[in-house]
Parts: sequence; C-alpha cells; structure tokens
Amino acid sequence: MEFFLDTADVDEIREIAAWGILDGVTTNPSLIKKSGRDFKEVVREIAGICSGPISAEVTAMDTNGMLEQARQLKSDLPNNVIIKIPCTPEGLAATKVLTQEGVDTNVTLIFSASQALMAAKAGATYVSPFIGRIDDTGHDGMNLIAEIMETWAQYDISTKVLAASIRHPTHVLQCMQLGAHTATMPAKIFRQLMKHPLTDKGLEGFMRDWAEVEAAGKA
Ligand code: E4P
Repeated sequence: MEFFLDTADVDEIREIAAWGILDGVTTNPSLIKKSGRDFKEVVREIAGICSGPISAEVTAMDTNGMLEQARQLKSDLPNNVIIKIPCTPEGLAATKVLTQEGVDTNVTLIFSASQALMAAKAGATYVSPFIGRIDDTGHDGMNLIAEIMETWAQYDISTKVLAASIRHPTHVLQCMQLGAHTATMPAKIFRQLMKHPLTDKGLEGFMRDWAEVEAAGKA
C-alpha cells in the first residue's frame, strides 16, 4: 500500500513527508500552474524532499514529442522522477518505448478498465484511474477501481493501480479495501485521514491530568 501526495506545493510536501509515511508525489500541468513555479525547478525540489516516485507529466500530444520530453526530463531531473503520460494511442506507444528503455511511467487520465488494461499491456509502471472526476459526472468512480482490480486478479500484472482524483478520506479506505496498490491525494485528505475529535478530546484530558501529576511533584 502506497500513499502519494497530489500537489506541487513544496511546503505541503515537507509537512506530510515529516510524518514518515509519504511514498511519492504526483504532479500534473494544472498543479504546476497552481504552484506558480518553473516546472523543472519545482519537480527537482520535490524529488529532493521525497525519495519515492515523483510523477512529471509530458505535454506533447505525439509519440515522438512525448519521448523527446520524457528523455529530457529523465536526463535533467533526479532519478526518482517518473514520466506521466496521457492515456491516448500516442501515449501508449510512448509508454511501450519508455518501458523498453527502463523508464518508469504513470499512465494518467484513465476512465475505463479497458484503458487501464491497454496501459498495463504497454508496460506502464502505474495506471491512474480518476475516481472523483467520474463521481462528478453522476457515476460511481469506485466501480472503476473494483472493475480494474477484478481484471488484475485474473492475470499476473505487475502494473500498479494508482487511485487518483481522490476527493475524501472514504475514497482512500474504499480503494485500499478493493486492493488498489496506491492512492494519490491532496494534503487536506492526509490531514483528514489522521483527524478524530475523540483523539483530540482524549489527549486534552490526559494532558490536563498529567499537569496535575507534575504540579503534585509526582512525575
Ligand atoms: C493524478 O495524478 C491527478 O493529478 C489528480 O489526482 C487529478 O485530480 P483532480 O481530479 O482533483 O484534478
């Protein structure tokens, strides 16, 4: 089970990395735009904070353009940077070549089990089904995770299923219950996963009582 952060905000990455349970980071062109920073500069900094796989996305639409960008990213950025590729026929061809070259990939914008299967067949290291964006259309994104995991169970597929576009903590739990290998989520969801009012209340009581133990010189 892997937990990734879905952000290009280095302060958030530092905060969650300090918890000791961060396995990787995913970025995309929109998250890079939100950071307001230079693409390679921010990905380089992220790769220095988290040693796990850091997804950097290609923006070319044709296979040769994708390959050129991917190779450039691999040569300019730290080793833990992996290449995020859109799930298109051109992306599939680029994934196949990069896999042959030993480059790890994350095939993104997956909305059907058949797309996930095609990306796995091309050798993708990760496939990223987008749950929340399916929920947004009035369908249940979790059905896609279930369908993919059911398909995976029939074969010896090494491609990891990376649940993406996660909107709330229950999404994370349900994905893990279905056996998804990885979930990528915003920092807000990491915080929500840890938060419980009874933990806060219980701790408050313990601290209050302990202060009295100390005041009585019995600590
Ligand atoms: C995954 O890698 C994507 O960056 C991300 O999960 C998209 O999520 P969104 O639908 O919240 O934009």
